[in-house]
Amino acid sequence: MRIDIITVVPDILTSPFEVSILKRAIEKGLVEIHLHNLRDYVTDNYKQIDDYQFGGGAGMVMMIEPIDKCISALKSERNYDEIIYMTPDGERFNQRMANSLSLKENIIILCGHYKGVDQRVRDHFITREISIGDYVLSGGELAAAVVCDSIIRLIPGVLGNETSALTDSFQDDLLAPPVYTRPAEYKGWKVPEILTSGNFPKIETWREEQSYLRTKKLRPDLLGEY
Ligand code: ADE
Repeated sequence: MRIDIITVVPDILTSPFEVSILKRAIEKGLVEIHLHNLRDYVTDNYKQIDDYQFGGGAGMVMMIEPIDKCISALKSERNYDEIIYMTPDGERFNQRMANSLSLKENIIILCGHYKGVDQRVRDHFITREISIGDYVLSGGELAAAVVCDSIIRLIPGVLGNETSALTDSFQDDLLAPPVYTRPAEYKGWKVPEILTSGNFPKIETWREEQSYLRTKKLRPDLLGEY
């Protein structure tokens, strides 16, 4: 998989890919991340990427030309499955979208800033608009990092144990069950006996019940979709 990220602040997006699981995924050749600084696609000396909005009003708008140049240059080199715009007014991101994006070959992610991008970018280049939640970030970069992290860990071979992504919270619209490790007793607080019983079918049933109970208590909205 190849992900091209278009941004005005590439520095925000360097460290997430330089550590831990994402770093290993890149080193194993399972994903390529390419950061593109939008200012490299500006021809004027001031490197201006934004301007006042027509009709007046506070806030600058990202101009279409540098974005067009960057996206067109990328598209001339390969086909893209999706050109995603990170924006608080996009479709709310969830595990189902992460699953489907993890199957794509090439995607572009455009990070918005200021008041957002000229609407013509959205009308003519963007195939999907994604929000990571109902709150406003200073820019789309952190949201892009969240989306990338959630999809890269789903690519086969990225996580050591394949099943561990499949048993994540949300994979079946349920929260994950509680987990425990050694010691079996700490300060008198005991691990549920069933987990040390060695009866694996029973443990599986217990985990399913716990998932359901936890979801019912903490996220009853998910059970509506279940
Ligand atoms: N850009 C600013 N806020 C955002 C959000 N909540 N989701 C995606 N992109 C954003």
